[in-house]
Amino acid sequence: MSQAASILPEPAADVPAQPPRHVAIIMDGNGRWAASRHLPRVAGHREGARAVKRTVSAAIRHDVQWLTIYAFSSENWRRPAGEVMDLTGLLRQYLRTEIAELASNGVRIRFIGDRDRFDAGIRDDLAQAERATVGNTKLNLTVALSYGARAEILAAARAMGEAVRQGRLDTDALTEDAFAGFLSTDGIPDPDLIIRTSGEQRLSNFLLWQAAYAELVFLDVLWPDFGDEHFAAAMADFSRRERRFGARPG
Ligand code: IPE
Ligand code: IPE
Ligand code: MG
Repeated sequence: MSQAASILPEPAADVPAQPPRHVAIIMDGNGRWAASRHLPRVAGHREGARAVKRTVSAAIRHDVQWLTIYAFSSENWRRPAGEVMDLTGLLRQYLRTEIAELASNGVRIRFIGDRDRFDAGIRDDLAQAERATVGNTKLNLTVALSYGARAEILAAARAMGEAVRQGRLDTDALTEDAFAGFLSTDGIPDPDLIIRTSGEQRLSNFLLWQAAYAELVFLDVLWPDFGDEHFAAAMADFSRRERRFGARPG
């Protein structure tokens, strides 16, 4: 894994004319990063938070307007209590120390996922971070926390069923767009590019509805080592993809 850089795709010589509007990232490999250094897993998560800062800057430099990061899945609650505590502790620290800088860089932050599973203190911090950055337009950063796509889709189906039952929605109006409006990503464009680090090639319950036509890039780098060059390599890979959306190539 230390040689990850050597197996990254070569950056394209030409700058992509159409950068992806929305990049989503499955930030994986913190534990393996720590284990390879004989460090506790929390050290990997701490270093992973630094990689988030680098990634936000890279997204802004590359003119990406929407960035979504998968920080904690609904299934990650199944990890040992000590690791869950470490992760929620780091989240709280991040929210207390980084929001001012994000705000001053023009970043609007949103959270998707089941925030009811966090304690009241964290829920307040999440709401406060959203409020403090609501007017920003440079980069829309969405953090998926306690997020699982199946739970999201099920909740949307329930809410839509309820709207029909109450007569607020007609069954004829049950379109894909109407359904998307019940998802937690309402108002957020679908991701154009999904990057996963750590060499794993799966979505792990991330944005299953929204990912229908996303380009997938799997990088053999552990998340704490992710930097500018990896972001640039994924963008270059994206620029070489031919997106067809089911139509015949022109
Ligand atoms: C990603 O790193 C962070 C979270 C899922 C919270 P991991 O903790 O999954 O690291 P690995 O996959 O065990 O290396
Ligand atoms: C996916 O990583 C979730 C996040 C990156 C937050 P996991 O490490 O939890 O995924 P699996 O268990 O390898 O599929
Ligand atoms: Mg993992």
